[in-house]
Amino acid sequence: MGGNCQILLINVILYTKLFGDCFVKRNYGVQFLGIGSALPSKVVKNADLEKLFDTNDEWIYSRTGIRERRVVDKDESGLSLALEASKQALENSKLNPEDIDLIIVCTATPDMLYPSLSCMLQGELGASKAVSFDLSAACSGFIFGLVTASQYIYSGAFKNVLVVGVDVHSRFLDWSERSVSILFGDGAGAMVLSSCDVNNDELLGFVIKSESDKKLDLTLTNNNVHFADLSKNIEANFVKMNGKAIYQFAVDVVPSVVNELLEKTSMKSFDVDYFVPHQANKRIIDMAAKKLGFEESKVVSNIDKVGNTSAASIPLAIHHAILNKQIKFPCTMVLVGFGAGLTWGSALVKLNLKSV
Ligand SMILES: CC(C)(COP(=O)(O)OP(=O)(O)OC[C@H]1O[C@@H](n2cnc3c(N)ncnc32)[C@H](O)[C@@H]1OP(=O)(O)O)[C@@H](O)C(=O)NCCC(=O)NCCS
Repeated sequence: MGGNCQILLINVILYTKLFGDCFVKRNYGVQFLGIGSALPSKVVKNADLEKLFDTNDEWIYSRTGIRERRVVDKDESGLSLALEASKQALENSKLNPEDIDLIIVCTATPDMLYPSLSCMLQGELGASKAVSFDLSAACSGFIFGLVTASQYIYSGAFKNVLVVGVDVHSRFLDWSERSVSILFGDGAGAMVLSSCDVNNDELLGFVIKSESDKKLDLTLTNNNVHFADLSKNIEANFVKMNGKAIYQFAVDVVPSVVNELLEKTSMKSFDVDYFVPHQANKRIIDMAAKKLGFEESKVVSNIDKVGNTSAASIPLAIHHAILNKQIKFPCTMVLVGFGAGLTWGSALVKLNLKSV
């Protein structure tokens, strides 16, 4: 009897390990309804940076794939970019602001520490029935935001969720120094997710990860007045980066997290229509695509025109590719992000947007 019980227990443990997801009965799936994006009007070309410090277009383009980026002017902000992208995504979804139940703004460079950018956006949009919060996962923000939104939808807690990725790094760069400021640009991207029948779920799988950046290879400080040291000058808050360490981190985690996702979803790269990596460096994108076996025609990239727009980069790249008629619907996409934290993650999605 005791032996039988033991065998039964081992079988249950094995079965749970192998088919664990099957036991979580879900009633809802996630459907992607619409997309939008926004860029500031001011274009800063590599040649413009030559006036600020010792650099040149050839060096920047060959090391990063970036030709130009956008930066906010005085009358623009994270809020104005998020608002524009969200309005487009709502219109594209054929939803009104009052239809939105939850707003998640993914950002590491909010206009203020509080109120949150999401609460400010909620007010400007007139999304009177929504609840809003910001999510901080740096350049992985949009992937973490999609995954977070999906869990609220799967549980039945919310029906329509607006996920916005927005960053304004230009306010946090040392424009007298060449190693970091060449990389970043400002922008916003937004998507509306809605609940649907569980059999039509368009989020086919995800993997998200984090670990402590103990060596502080990628930081943006939040220095401010300290009561214990009121006389001390406050150091400006600028992005600081060990470029080589972050490059190595990216070339390690991007292929490995995508491979983990493909294995989890029983897919191969040739089954997937498009590969949409975080737009940090064209050399990282090319290397990852090659390692993973995504041919060039499947790789979605706009880094030459926008630089690294952090949490906005993935929805911005998708939206630009749609507007440039590079995407055919319905399609499958592997999205992959990485960034400060350290954070990284990947999602496999189906996209069938009706009109953009
Ligand atoms: C930043 C990055 C482009 C630098 O490229 P790199 O090949 O590592 O370049 P290095 O820092 O070794 O610099 C090489 C040389 O170019 C010089 N250099 C650095 N920045 C320069 C610039 N903007 N213009 C011209 N020369 C530059 C360096 O001083 C160095 O000169 P030296 O050899 O005389 O000392 C690269 O490390 C990178 O992309 N890292 C990942 C960054 C990233 O993705 N961050 C975001 C994560 S979300």
